[in-house]
Formats: sequence, structure tokens, C-alpha cells
Amino acid sequence: MPFPYKHILLVGATAGIGRAMADRFVETGVKVTAVGRRQERLDDFVRQHGEDKASGIAFDITDSKKIPEFVESVIKSFPEIDCIFFNAGIQNTYDWSDPAKLDLDKFNNEINVNFTSFVTLTHAFLPFLINKPDPTSIIFTGSNIAIVPGAPLPAYSASKAALNVFVLCLREHLQKTNVKIIEVSPPPVQTELHDYMGEERGRALGMPLDAFTNEAHQGLLAGKDQIIVGSIGPADIFNEIIDKRRTAFDNLAKMFRSH
Ligand SMILES: NC(=O)c1ccc[n+]([C@@H]2O[C@H](COP(=O)([O-])OP(=O)(O)OC[C@H]3O[C@@H](n4cnc5c(N)ncnc54)[C@H](OP(=O)(O)O)[C@@H]3O)[C@@H](O)[C@H]2O)c1
Repeated sequence: MPFPYKHILLVGATAGIGRAMADRFVETGVKVTAVGRRQERLDDFVRQHGEDKASGIAFDITDSKKIPEFVESVIKSFPEIDCIFFNAGIQNTYDWSDPAKLDLDKFNNEINVNFTSFVTLTHAFLPFLINKPDPTSIIFTGSNIAIVPGAPLPAYSASKAALNVFVLCLREHLQKTNVKIIEVSPPPVQTELHDYMGEERGRALGMPLDAFTNEAHQGLLAGKDQIIVGSIGPADIFNEIIDKRRTAFDNLAKMFRSH
């Protein structure tokens, strides 16, 4: 099945999963407008693919006051965008046994990047997507750690769990609209995300990026709305938890619908 969307705004496209997915989309005939803070990497992306297929906008998604202006300018410059891919993310470790040493601003900023900023951006982009005559979608990059939290990563795990719950509810709210809500849930993947461990160790952690990109892209082409790659612990148990929780969620949503 071909990918049904023609122009993607990919937020967090300057490195790792975002850059690899952006390259894959362009190579398969989908236009990409890349977003990230690092202008030189956006320029590199546009140089590689050409201005007819690729464009870049430098933006820091934590700059919440500028989100309305950012969204307005995206819609004005690229009214044909029909898919928004929220992929940006950061990860750090924290130890709550010594609160005096804990950097609370850093902790809250991580939740802002990974969760709150996407809520604000979704709110700002939704009227534009809903009012389009054709099918549109929002893709979120979650994490398998949303389901089984990693103890040294409380901000990351909590933000991805919150994002996963938001995505489930959002999908239910939009079921009668033209906006499809898709979640891609990666296992550890070899990117810059774990650079806090040291570049050499961090970038060797997890699944090779190309293998992940293949699997995630296949899931999108298959039209899935929840693409789980890999697992935490045995795959059968992990997938059973996810499937049973989704069924329980859907049953509860049906009950709410009938009231
Ligand atoms: N790699 C893994 O093991 C793994 C596992 C599960 C889920 N994920 C998720 O996959 C997604 C991509 O991560 P990755 O592994 O590819 O990490 P990465 O290589 O570090 O890339 C992170 C991306 O997020 C962007 N970003 C970070 N802060 C931003 C901000 N304030 N404003 C705008 N863009 C921002 C970065 O761009 P700039 O720095 O240029 O702004 C970069 O493009 C994240 O949501 C991550 O949580 C990754």
C-alpha cells in the first residue's frame, strides 16, 4: 500500500530516527519539511534532496509563546501539508534519592520537549488538518518505555507514558474526522539520544537505525495506527500487555460513547 500522505512536517528531523525517516520519505516520493533547532543540519537535508522535495524550518518546540506564529507560518508556506510527524525527544537520567542534587528545571524541560510541547502543537495544528477535504494524519514517536518504565529515566518514562495516553484519547476523539492518529513505538535505537552515556557507548546502544527505519516505514505503509518495534522483555508478554490494554481502552471508550 503506498503511503497516503504527500507532504510531511517532520518535527525532530535533524538527527537519528527523524533524519532517517525523513530521508526514507523523500526517497519514496513524499515531500518533507524538516524541523529542528540546528540550522546547519536542516541545510544539509535540503542540500541532499533538493528544494523541490525537501525544506527546513529552524524552531525550538519548547518556545511555547512562539508556537502560534510558527504554526501560522508553516500553514501559510506549505498549505499542502497533510501529515505532521512529532518525533523530537530528549533523554536524561535522574536520581531522586538526593533531591538537592536533582536538576528540577532539566527534569521539567524534558517533559516539556517530549510531551507538553506536542500537546500545544497538536492543539495549534488540528483545525488546519480537520478542515482539509482529504485524509490527514499526525504521527507521534513514543517509546516502548511508555509501557514498562525505566527507573533511571523517570522524566523520559513519564513523558512517554503521558504521550501514549494522550495519543489513545486523541485517536478516540478524532475517530469521526479525516485525521488519523498514529503512534510509532521504538525500542532502543542507535542514535544521539543516549549521548549522555558518552558518544561511543550511547550511539552503539540498541537496534541499528536502518533496521528500525525499515520496520517503522513498513508499519506506516501497512496503514497501522500503532507500530510497536521490538519489545521490553519477552515479545509475547510485552505485546500481550499492549494488546490487552488497547482492548480495555477501546471497551471503556465505547462505554463513554454510549453515555
Ligand atoms: N533512540 C532510541 O533509543 C529511542 C527509543 C525510543 C524512542 N525514541 C524516540 O525517538 C525520537 C527521536 O529520537 P532519536 O533517538 O532519533 O534522538 P536524536 O538522534 O537525539 O534526535 C532527536 C531529535 O529531536 C530534536 N529536538 C530535540 N529537542 C528539540 C527542541 N527543543 N526543539 C526542536 N527539536 C528538538 C533534535 O533536533 P535539534 O537538536 O536540532 O533541535 C533531533 O532532531 C524521540 O522522540 C525519542 O524519544 C528513541
